[in-house]
Amino acid sequence: MTQDELKKAVAKAAVDYIQPKLEKDSIVGVGTGSTANFFIDYLADIKGQFDGAVASSEASAERLRLHGIPVYDLNSAESLVVYVDGADETNPALELIKGGGAALTREKIVAAVAEEFVCIADGSKWVETLGDFPLPVEVIPMARSHVARELVKLGGDPVYRQGCVTDNGNVILDVHNMKITDPVATEAAINQIVGVVTNGLFAARAADVLLLGRESGVETITRR
Ligand code: 5RP
Repeated sequence: MTQDELKKAVAKAAVDYIQPKLEKDSIVGVGTGSTANFFIDYLADIKGQFDGAVASSEASAERLRLHGIPVYDLNSAESLVVYVDGADETNPALELIKGGGAALTREKIVAAVAEEFVCIADGSKWVETLGDFPLPVEVIPMARSHVARELVKLGGDPVYRQGCVTDNGNVILDVHNMKITDPVATEAAINQIVGVVTNGLFAARAADVLLLGRESGVETITRR
């Protein structure tokens, strides 16, 4: 199977997983990226069964609207029954690196509100220790050099993502060469740097369920 076929398989599995939880007034949190895009496309097949969605990016909001799925501002949503999103890496504790698509801050906000966080990923995203994928950090533009120097003190090699402006008007530093053995501590330490909006570690709020696409089928892994 190709990587795209694995992404489609987990996206379809996510719709099957959430369908029994949905009610007419349910609002679904929707992530960002190619796997999330497949999820949006399958979600459209059951759009009569829930009220609408909150999106973690302008791109996902646009795709939802094109399918005729109502998109709500998070501030007007009382609750989110579930949040479904992809990841750049996941470890066995379902702690994630996200932000390859630069949507990490809104993703973290929507994940924080959702009752359940379902991560969908193809098997290439599974790692024992996070950090092979460069960790994205969203930064207020004027703080870029300061934050980069502080990240070097934490042991990383930050690289400015050229030409990337987030939906929030900020920039991204991708931190290379960090073996993240304590994701909760690293997430907190980076967030303490003045000028950091957030970082792409989802450890304080890890995924609750991972639907992992393998050649043998989709595995459902629940956080212990
Ligand atoms: C976007 C993300 C994505 O979930 C992550 O980059 C995975 O993307 P894809 O599904 O395209 O592999 O965090 O900010």
